[in-house]
Amino acid sequence: MKPFPPLPPPGYTLEPLSERHDRTAFSCGVPALDSYLARQAGQDVKRDVSRVYVLAADHETVAGYFSLSAATISLSDLPPEMARRLPRYPFVPATLMGRLAVAGSHRGRNLGEFLLLSALFLSWQASRQVASAAVLVDAKDDSARGFYERYGFIRFPDQSNRLFLPMKTVEQLLG
Ligand SMILES: CC(C)(COP(=O)(O)OP(=O)(O)OC[C@H]1O[C@@H](n2cnc3c(N)ncnc32)[C@H](O)[C@@H]1OP(=O)(O)O)[C@@H](O)C(=O)NCCC(=O)NCCS
Repeated sequence: MKPFPPLPPPGYTLEPLSERHDRTAFSCGVPALDSYLARQAGQDVKRDVSRVYVLAADHETVAGYFSLSAATISLSDLPPEMARRLPRYPFVPATLMGRLAVAGSHRGRNLGEFLLLSALFLSWQASRQVASAAVLVDAKDDSARGFYERYGFIRFPDQSNRLFLPMKTVEQLLG
């Protein structure tokens, strides 16, 4: 079955980051993720470095966000059994979900899961036009890594905080 976009929970909308979102009030407990949204995200979007999507409550309050960018994986970084299934190019195309966070006041309502599935859906959809073999994430700590591993993300052998999910698995997860 062809994947379809996940539906946001009632009261929330998924929107590309824009001027009307209150970026400075966002607080998820990880200062780097808060300040990225407040200070850097808008610049990254303008300069075509990242696309940033916001889960908005009442179209203004940011309940969560994620960013997506084009990336590459070095074939030598992959587990050997996976590398064997890919052509012997030094690098393969991928999609990086650089950041994902849910505001402390909106936790435990499956919003993290909704954002992750939305990011995977957008990555899969884009990969039909411009190929991407996997989605990459950088977990900030062991707890974040645990969150991604629930959904099947696999650790790179030599980089314990960078994980990947093959695009084929993304399609199965969403289908
Ligand atoms: C990690 C984070 C995005 C989870 O968001 P959330 O909205 O609280 O999570 P959800 O309610 O969608 O949880 C979905 C499922 O994952 C589980 N889960 C949540 N956080 C988890 C974690 N850190 N490790 C393992 N499982 C976790 C939940 O228990 C839930 O499982 P259930 O459906 O069986 O009850 C959020 O805690 C966060 O923003 N943390 C700070 C920033 C961060 O660590 N970002 C990660 C990337 S750097």
